[in-house]
Amino acid sequence: MKVQTKRPEQIQVTIHPQQEKRSKEAGSWVMQPEHYPLRKAEKSLDKLIGMKKIKSFVRQIYAFVYVNQCRKELSLPVSEQNLHMLFIGNPGTGKTTVARILAQMFQEMNVLPKGHLIEAERADLVGEYIGQTAQKTRDLIKKAAGGILFIDEAYSLSRGGEKDFGREAVDTLVKAMEDHKHQFILILAGYPEEMQRFLRLNPGLPSRFPHRFHFDDFSPAELLEIFLRQADELGYVCTPTLKKTIKEHLEELNEQERRSHNGRYVRNLMERMLRMQALRLLEENTLDDESLMTFTHVDFEKSTLS
Ligand SMILES: Nc1ncnc2c1ncn2[C@@H]1O[C@H](COP(=O)(O)OP(=O)(O)OP(=O)(O)O)[C@@H](O)[C@H]1O
Ligand SMILES: [Mg+2]
Repeated sequence: MKVQTKRPEQIQVTIHPQQEKRSKEAGSWVMQPEHYPLRKAEKSLDKLIGMKKIKSFVRQIYAFVYVNQCRKELSLPVSEQNLHMLFIGNPGTGKTTVARILAQMFQEMNVLPKGHLIEAERADLVGEYIGQTAQKTRDLIKKAAGGILFIDEAYSLSRGGEKDFGREAVDTLVKAMEDHKHQFILILAGYPEEMQRFLRLNPGLPSRFPHRFHFDDFSPAELLEIFLRQADELGYVCTPTLKKTIKEHLEELNEQERRSHNGRYVRNLMERMLRMQALRLLEENTLDDESLMTFTHVDFEKSTLS
């Protein structure tokens, strides 16, 4: 479908016959050239394990923003585009990764002029004396202008009670969300229980964040899949028996440990294995193709020694 504006007061909508036929197939609209930003984001999301709900949510947000842009072009009333979000999930569940994908998608849709991601935490917003917090927070918002301001462990902003300067940071953020509505997108991230408490403590906040993403913990099988995909992307393979050993290792991790690291556990394991394999190859003086590409039990065992 193409929306053409001949004269400001005259609007013509043309539907090409093939497009009409194609659009009857559910989801086929995504293939139309103008939806390239969504396809690109979905391609990046497809590289991630799980996240089914998040993938469908990203499509909804894309559709909402796109349709609003079409309405605006035709001077139809547009619902206020509040794109501030809450990302709720344990460490290593992909919150930062998804925020980066969204930032890029919004930039390509011209929702954000720059599409960069500024990651911040309490210490970047909260000062040590009166007046410093508001200034620090405003400086950070300035840095994030045109992109996404992502505040990790956002609940820590209200941990100190009434007298804590964190409250000043929250107030400054809320004010900036009103004053600079379309200049940046604010994402507050944090662990589930703490975020619920944080939102209860700040009654003005929940309604300002209409979009909520929940990031689930990964099962041992999903962690193994993440490991294998990362290895594949980097051009490494594991022998079948090594795969089995890593799987058992991930299953043996205690629940607490698994949930407090998730994907980051695998990322760290991968980085240690890369170093151990490199060291082994130099010690063995074997630098042939196959050796360069292969992780062995020795690499894994040395990587898991504490
Ligand atoms: N669904 C996923 N599929 C594949 N890899 C993932 C997935 N989620 C996270 N990862 C990987 O796990 C690591 C941590 O991800 P990320 O930094 O996005 O997590 P996070 O939720 O922001 O963590 P934190 O709360 O500690 O900041 C990265 O290496 C990322 O590539
Ligand atoms: Mg993160």
